[in-house]
Amino acid sequence: MNEKAMVGEKAAIEFIKDGMIVGLGTGSTVYYTIVKIAEQIKSGLQIQGVATSLQTEILAKKLGIPLLRIEEVEKIDLAIDGADEVDSQFNAIKGGGGALLREKVIANAADIFVVVADSKKVVSTLGSFPLPVEVVPFGAELTERQIQKLGCTTSFRQKEDTIFVTDNGNYIIDCFFSSIQNPKELQIELNQIPGVAENGLFVDRIHHLVTLDKEKNIVVL
Ligand code: A5P
Repeated sequence: MNEKAMVGEKAAIEFIKDGMIVGLGTGSTVYYTIVKIAEQIKSGLQIQGVATSLQTEILAKKLGIPLLRIEEVEKIDLAIDGADEVDSQFNAIKGGGGALLREKVIANAADIFVVVADSKKVVSTLGSFPLPVEVVPFGAELTERQIQKLGCTTSFRQKEDTIFVTDNGNYIIDCFFSSIQNPKELQIELNQIPGVAENGLFVDRIHHLVTLDKEKNIVVL
């Protein structure tokens, strides 16, 4: 079994309990969590999901997972999602798939937020992976210049030769910092720039990390 499947499935087995409202993340790792949840539902588990993206909504519907619309949700018991990088303080970069804003709203509302990440995602310092920042289209180039003043080079995310548009109708600016020494400070600075809708730094939010150790055993931290 590949690492993504191992950690993805483990999170479903370890954390999902009957009756929960569960935030369903986006990406190729949490895909395995979602598939496992669907299996558990077929065996009698009763949960309701809340999707962090249209992609996940389509997947969950296809697999028969009952979904709530975000407007119907009063509380979220648990959210499970992937990450692009996670450090030893459990700070993370997310948004490689462009779903960071909805992912952050749902992670923030959840009582418990679990990240599933293969061993390559665990790093000592964040920043090798370009930090995604979601910006509104109005004045996006001006917003980009303000972001660059924080010490990064940038590029607007493209998809098939055209600009990538998020589920919220916004753009993604990928920011190349190479090393992010103070993620807490940087997330505040980024979100203070008018035009920035949200950034992909998740700081002081992750309660548990499901990954693999050096011997390739699954660990729940
Ligand atoms: C989606 O926007 C992202 O935040 C994903 O959760 C993250 O990129 C991890 O995706 P993979 O599990 O596909 O690497």
